Amino acid sequence: MRPVCARADSGMQVARRAVSSFECSAPNRPTYEHSALRLHLHEQASVIGSQQLERLVRGASVKTESSRVLRHVNFVLFVGIALNVSTAIAATPREQRAIVQHGIGGPEVLKFETAGVPEPGKNEVLIRVYAAAINPVDYKRRIGTGDYAPEPAALPTAIPGGDVAGVIEKVGGDVTAFRVGDPVFAVIPRDPKRLNGGYAQFAVATTETVVAKPRNVTFAEAAGLGVAAVTAVRIVSVTKVAKGQRVLVTGAAGGVGSIAVQVAKERGAFVIGTASGRRAEYLRSIGVDQFVDYTKGNFEDQIKDVDVVIDTVGEDTATRAFKTLKKGGHYISVAARGLERQCEAAGFKCPGRGNAQALPREFYDETGRLAGSGKLSLYIDKSFPLAQAADAQVYSEQGRTQGKISLVVDAENANRK
Ligand SMILES: NC(=O)c1ccc[n+]([C@@H]2O[C@H](COP(=O)([O-])OP(=O)(O)OC[C@H]3O[C@@H](n4cnc5c(N)ncnc54)[C@H](OP(=O)(O)O)[C@@H]3O)[C@@H](O)[C@H]2O)c1
Repeated sequence: MRPVCARADSGMQVARRAVSSFECSAPNRPTYEHSALRLHLHEQASVIGSQQLERLVRGASVKTESSRVLRHVNFVLFVGIALNVSTAIAATPREQRAIVQHGIGGPEVLKFETAGVPEPGKNEVLIRVYAAAINPVDYKRRIGTGDYAPEPAALPTAIPGGDVAGVIEKVGGDVTAFRVGDPVFAVIPRDPKRLNGGYAQFAVATTETVVAKPRNVTFAEAAGLGVAAVTAVRIVSVTKVAKGQRVLVTGAAGGVGSIAVQVAKERGAFVIGTASGRRAEYLRSIGVDQFVDYTKGNFEDQIKDVDVVIDTVGEDTATRAFKTLKKGGHYISVAARGLERQCEAAGFKCPGRGNAQALPREFYDETGRLAGSGKLSLYIDKSFPLAQAADAQVYSEQGRTQGKISLVVDAENANRK
């Protein structure tokens, strides 16, 4: 077979060109990695996504010379068909399916519809989303309580969702840290100027809030490492949790609490966690040393002399937790607002609750590192397909989530590592 040198446009032409190149490569080259075939296929990476391509090529597994002819035949068919199909599926479309929030209200304001695919700007990337995660702030923005309402400029339509995982689809100007095809998870900051959220097939994020996906977690788990996990990593850090300290985490089974428990354990603390009785086994599995069932009496009567309080429940739980804390101890609540003065007046150290949308980069890196080394495990309580995001928010609103709620955007890829 002679090499085909013309620029190929269709998958079958590309396959023919790739195989021709393989024919031309020296017979003693042992794997596809040393052949021109790989180069040609990599030219296609920007079209079909490099991960998909790697799988494709590994699947072809052209390694020995013994059954070379037969393998070529199979390979031509395989690559040709696959590239034709993949190109059709995977080229960046101009439109996508997304959940669009139409104003403030009940779950019915969330509609599954067609929206434009955003373009990444300077220092931004476009992510092809495989999975997203739900956070309580999502339904709070839908019902518009307090200052949670979306900015007027984003109404009447906005795509909700702050957490995604997927692969880089495009990079904007000045982006050097990521390449097309890289698997990542990211927090999508809310942007009043455009429809840009995670409940969608594509989402734009600034590179500051994008992290390489740890290899040992699935895309669905990685999506759950966004807002809640990065917040948990931050609050354990700013409350200076140290070895041997007694740390109380209220709401220890939830998205923030379950990660805060694990990060505090990693620092060598003795962790006390509150939840209802049915969470006892789960809390033990993530390292809680002392479990307190808040439905059986006041937790503050059972827990004394803690060095750090991490409150993720809010309301009266946030203030009752003061009673468990030593003088001079650290107190933080991510769920309650406006307690700083009361906290300081009681003689505690009171770092601010922070803004999940603007957390320093170091906490993203730390979250990725801890998850990558197997020190954070993420429990997925329930998964919903993207189209059923409204049901997922209703579930979140019930306040009974153990770990995280996942939104499956791409069923083929969400649960693979
Ligand atoms: N400021 C920030 O940067 C920031 C960032 C992320 C989250 N947040 C906020 O932090 C809060 C927690 O978020 P999340 O994602 O962890 O919520 P979540 O996953 O929805 O929390 C659900 C958990 O809360 C537990 N819970 C409910 N009432 C409880 C009580 N009275 N005592 C102990 N546990 C209780 C539930 O356990 P049971 O079912 O056993 O009761 C459940 O496991 C939310 O208000 C969220 O908006 C703030």
